[in-house]
Amino acid sequence: MFVDIDPRTYNIDVTKVERAITARTKALLPVHLYGQPADMDPLLGLAERHHLQVIEDAAQAPGAEYKGQKTGTFGKAACFSFYPAKNLGAYGDAGMVVTNDDQVAQKVRLWRDHGRESKYVHLAEGFGKRLDTIQAAVLRVKLRRLPAWNAQRRQNALLYTQLLSGTGVVCPYEPEYSRSVYHQYVIRVREREKMQARLKEDGISTGVYYPLPLHLQPAYARLGYQPGALPATEKAAEEVLSLPMYPELTPEQIEFIASRVKAYS
Ligand SMILES: Cc1ncc(COP(=O)(O)O)c(C=O)c1O
Repeated sequence: MFVDIDPRTYNIDVTKVERAITARTKALLPVHLYGQPADMDPLLGLAERHHLQVIEDAAQAPGAEYKGQKTGTFGKAACFSFYPAKNLGAYGDAGMVVTNDDQVAQKVRLWRDHGRESKYVHLAEGFGKRLDTIQAAVLRVKLRRLPAWNAQRRQNALLYTQLLSGTGVVCPYEPEYSRSVYHQYVIRVREREKMQARLKEDGISTGVYYPLPLHLQPAYARLGYQPGALPATEKAAEEVLSLPMYPELTPEQIEFIASRVKAYS
């Protein structure tokens, strides 16, 4: 079951979760999208009341905080992605599951290595998902820099927001309870394709994450969702635009980008 988003944070709308819970529901799966933590307290409360697990998708939010606590530490388990474009990127594909539960840890360890318990004994069918040693070595070094890189992203976001406030552009909303790590700096604009084309002419690359929502993906056609089912999600899919965001962006670059965005909005 997909649940619509809060149009301000782009994360799961916690007021709409309960009505989506059925007798078959086993877990709640919030995504900390764009580096912004989902509103965890209401979700944890619902999970407790309905005897559900919480599994976090923290792929875009390593180091982000919700009420002073790091994402990936709230649920039964959480996943992180180290795809090269992520805040903590490997030099190829990599990822991580974290958990405080020994049984989950044991299962994940089995599954990542073809269900292997020991050299020649397989307890289950699994996957070939071992973390490549070269990637692990790269990530081990880069991990130390993650807090500084995240802080730089936050500073860049602050400057964008200062420069873009008072225009027709909707800037990211960061609720009091959280500290985003700005995997993406996402604005909302009405004529997005036009804005994107004009920025491209100025040499500014932008991205759309994501133009086709999950519930309307061909892969999920079998679930029977029709356009209009999740209106806040669908509106966001039409309006969101990611501006350049990485730690090394200079204030001059941000000023230039913001000035062009302003000129075209
Ligand atoms: C929110 C989110 N979840 C999951 C994934 C999947 O991660 P990976 O490609 O490392 O499997 C990604 C990124 O691709 C993501 O952004």
